[in-house]
This record gives sequence, structure tokens and C-alpha cells, in this order.
Amino acid sequence: MGVSGCGKTTIGKQLSEKMKLPFFDGDDFHPKKNLDKMEKGIPLNNEDRYPWLNILADNIEEWSQKDGAIIACSALKEKYREILASKNKNIIWIYLSGDQSLIKARIEQRQGHFMNASMLISQFNDLEVPKYGIHADISQSPEKIVNEILANLEPINTSFFGVIGLGVMGRSLSLNIAEKGYALSVYNRITEGEENSVKDFLEEAEDDMKIEGFTDLSEFVDSLERPRKILIMIKAGNAIDQVVEALIPKLSEGDIIIDGGNSHYKDTKRRADYLENKGLNFIGAGISGGEEGARKGPSIMPGGKKDSYQIIAPVLESIAAIGEDGTKCCVYVGPEGAGHFVKMIHNGIEYAEMQLLAEVYSLLSVSKSKEEIKDIFLEWNSGELGSYLLEITANIMTKKEGGEYVLDLILDKAGNKGTGSWSTKAAFDLGTVNTMMASAVFARYVSSFKERRKKLAKEINKNIDLGSYISIEDVKEAYKCARLLNHQQGFEIIRRASESYDWNLSLSDLSRIWTNGCIIRSELMINCISYFKTYDDLFEHPEIIDVLKRGEDAVKSVLIHGLTNRIPLPLFTEANTYWVSMTTERLSANMIQAQRDYFGAHTYQRVDAPENQSFHTNWY
Ligand code: 6PG
Repeated sequence: MGVSGCGKTTIGKQLSEKMKLPFFDGDDFHPKKNLDKMEKGIPLNNEDRYPWLNILADNIEEWSQKDGAIIACSALKEKYREILASKNKNIIWIYLSGDQSLIKARIEQRQGHFMNASMLISQFNDLEVPKYGIHADISQSPEKIVNEILANLEPINTSFFGVIGLGVMGRSLSLNIAEKGYALSVYNRITEGEENSVKDFLEEAEDDMKIEGFTDLSEFVDSLERPRKILIMIKAGNAIDQVVEALIPKLSEGDIIIDGGNSHYKDTKRRADYLENKGLNFIGAGISGGEEGARKGPSIMPGGKKDSYQIIAPVLESIAAIGEDGTKCCVYVGPEGAGHFVKMIHNGIEYAEMQLLAEVYSLLSVSKSKEEIKDIFLEWNSGELGSYLLEITANIMTKKEGGEYVLDLILDKAGNKGTGSWSTKAAFDLGTVNTMMASAVFARYVSSFKERRKKLAKEINKNIDLGSYISIEDVKEAYKCARLLNHQQGFEIIRRASESYDWNLSLSDLSRIWTNGCIIRSELMINCISYFKTYDDLFEHPEIIDVLKRGEDAVKSVLIHGLTNRIPLPLFTEANTYWVSMTTERLSANMIQAQRDYFGAHTYQRVDAPENQSFHTNWY
């Protein structure tokens, strides 16, 4: 903005080129009536100007929803600027300032340009110099003016990365990113009860962190360097689609949206395809580690297009935990929804590990105090059974509140957010087995029927042979075997998915990024790195088969102890069933085939014929 002859078009066009934004001359938007008047040399009055400025305001609103634009417009009076900004407050005013004699001299030098001296005087009379925006001195060369403007624009436009959603995970990840020196913009919408989340977060951040907070999505998007890199940390489900929809008109080609929540992998693929059609990129990143992991170093499982990943890799890798071998617990997992798929299975493995520990706790509780169980867990944790979940379970055992164990105060109804049941369904879709995670999900469901259990428990009132002997060593061995079987099933689903969807996943890399930061980190996971370098199925590994063979009797003892004491042990039961079935040459499935053929002529294969031949018996 500025008076005629101050160089708005020259500077505007150069800025447009440097900033890769379209340039518009405000004068091109005059209604016909004004053009006619101007052509006849009649000066415009306010009545003429207001409709024109309103037209420009509508356009400014439209341009701001895309990438924005550079507009040259005299905008001499405060009222005019008010109209221009009426639909979008996010205007950066650049005032080209110079004195009247300089502008007059320049105008006179221009070939074929005529400007009446009295018109220039009237422009200066009208001019209300803005007390805001960037003021550029036009006595310098255009190049210098443009560079000065760009330098002044920088602080407004420099966040390298953006985070949407300041819940527990969003806050912790944001602090982690800012701590690594990245200029960050954060956004949280204003909702009831969350009015101050951005303000509170900024107060929580340390002084040397470069963080800008927003409650306006457009302002947030505009604050990001391009290609924009935006991590969404909100609840999985429709809310993600809503945020994506709101973002689309504000983004530019090549921008990258990262969904860091526990989204379903099929939704991730759908969103990636949808956004690709609009020239935008989508990365589905599984992030594990809870609040502490997110703040200090999570395990990150990004999936999607590799070239998009490479753009965000420096940020994700800088905030990730450091794994056992000193590398970062973040690796490009594979295309489409591969990242969210493996995070889902991570959670399935997590469900089964948690349930196993709960069963061990119930087994040991028959004869041991909480303090004794804690000691047993800590002892196990110091060796090959060590894991994050075992460690927290040991800590939970003796935590007290007002003289009572917190564990005794917690209602025995387990919640869930769905990833366990998705893992179970994924195994059905892929035609593979995950009886352990499935059983862990069902154990949570059974626990939720508290009222019915309470009622039925009164009716049963069995005389339980409490205290039958179980050796701690047997429980330990059985636990070791059940964990191996859980990991075998979990990794097998991933292997099958990789094959079916052509994802080319590396089980060894996944084990590596799961050795720290995530919930299922463990000594076993560290060993899996090398196991999967040689075999892609844990059953192939002689060391593992040996442990399972040796542990079979211990599992049996545990199950007997559970039966005698009426302790439900769904996971140990499944572990045993799976192991025995997988190591039995001839199962009873011949009967299933006979039944199918009997009632439906579904045919069967024979032991004495090649597998590609089908047979039917006339059973009647
Ligand atoms: C993690 C966790 C985390 C969360 C799961 C499980 O890896 O950090 O898996 O994602 O705890 O969503 O939640 P539910 O037990 O509630 O299903």
C-alpha cells in the first residue's frame, strides 16, 4: 500500500516471485462504474470506493483460504484498510513510504506516465499512515526493499512444524519437538472446558522453546513453512476426517499431514488416497510410549509414501527414543496404512502381555503377599524376562493410598479403546491366528460384566481348594513360553499382512524400534532383532523351540493350579492350546471336513492323494 507512484506494482511483483504467491493489482477489481469515471478523469469518492473495497475483501478471503496473495492497493485510509480486512484479519500490511518530492521526481522520470501534481498532493492529504505492518523506505533499490520486507516477514512465517491437538500426547510430543530446537506452531480448538489449553501449554513450555500457539486454524496453517508438516494428535475416528476436511482448503500442494493417533490402518489408506487426489500427502504414524515416552522419546512407526516420510524424518527421528543398538526407534515402516497396522499389532501384543501378567499376579496371589510378588517380579525383571510392562506391574503391586493397596481399590472392569479388537479382526481377515490377543480382548470384555459376575458368583459359592502348591519356577517358565507364543503370533500377523498387501515389512527393523520408547519394549524384543535377521517365523528358531519344549510341563502345572483354584487363565490356556495344536501332526480337523462334506458336499482332501484333488463321499 501507499500513494500512487510509490512502487507498489514493482515491489509487489518481485515479492510475488520470491514468495511464490500470486500477485494482484487492486485496481483491476474496480466495478465498471468506477472504471468509466476514472476514464473520464473524474476522481472517485468514498461511495465509489466502498463497493470496490468490498469486492477486494471477498477476494482476499478466497485467496487466504489457499496460499494467500500479494495485493497492490493504495489503501490510503484506515477505513479502507478496515474494509479490506473485514473478511480476513490475517493481512500483513506493507507500507511503501517515501516523501512527496522523491515520488514526484520518479513519476516525472517515467516515460509516458503522466500524473497531475495536484492528484499526488491530494493522495498525500488522504494518506493515513498505518501504525502497524512493515514500513519500507522507498529511497532504496527495489532489491533492497524486497529483501528488507522478506526479512521482516520471517518471524511471522517460520514455524517448521505444526501440531494439532494439545491432549496429553500432543502436549508431550510438542514439548519434545520444541526441545530439539524446531520452531513449532501448535493449535487447539476452543471447546467447553478447554478454553485455555493453548495458553496453559505455552506457559508450560520453556522460555527458550520457539513455540507459537493458535486457536484459529487458518492462522496456524499460515504460520507454517512450506511444505507444511502438520502432526494431528487427536482421538482416532471421525474427528480426524473433520480436521483433514478443515485443513484441505488451507493447504498447498505437497503439504504433509501426519496422523499420530491410533487410527485404523484401512482409514489411513483411505485418507492417503483421498488426499493424494488433492496433491496433499498423508502419513499414518503409530506412536507408542504413553505420556512419558512422547515427552522423552517414543517409538514411532510411520507409514505412507517414502518421499513424504523423508521430509518429516529429521523431526520424527530427532524426537524418537534411542534403541538398544544406539539407533533411533523410528523407521519408515512401509506404504499405505503399514505404520498404523504395525502399531495396531503392537497394541495387540501389549494386550496379551498385560493379560498374562494379570494372570501371573492372580496365580501368585493364592500363596504370596503383594510384597513377595513384587520381589518375584523385580527378580524376573533383572534377567531375560525383563520388560517395561513387568517393571510397571512390579511397581503397581505395592503402591498404597491411605494405608491401602491401590490395586485393591481399583474396580476389576478393564477398559479398551479398540486396537485390540481390530488386531483380532485383522487376523480373521488375513486367515491367520492370534488367539492370544483375541483372548486378552475377550478377558477385558468378560471383566466388564461385573454385575452379572457378582450375581453368579453368589450362586456358585464353590468350595475352592485354595493353596495347592505351585512352584514359582514353573510360573516363570510358563510365563516365558506364553510370551514367546504371543510374540510369535503377533509377528506372524505382520508377516502375513506384509505378504498380502505387498508391504515388504522388516520384522527385524520393527523389533529394533520396539526395543525402547514403546510399551512392549523388553529383553525378548532385543533378541527378536537378531532372530528375525535369520528367520521370519519364531517357530523356525531352534533356541525358541527348545524353550517351548522345555516349558510345556510348566504350562501344564500352571493350568492345573488354575483349575484347582478356580482361577481363570485364558491366556495360559490359549498358549497351551496353540502350542499343542501347532506341534500335533494329526489334528481332529479330519472330522470337521467329514462333517462339512456330510451336510454340504463341501468335499475334502485325502491323506493318500495329492492336495490339489477333492473328494466327496456319499454319506447317506
Ligand atoms: C502405546 C499404547 C497406547 C494406548 C493404547 C491402549 O503404545 O503407547 O498402546 O497407544 O495405551 O491405546 O489403549 P487401550 O488399552 O485403552 O485400548
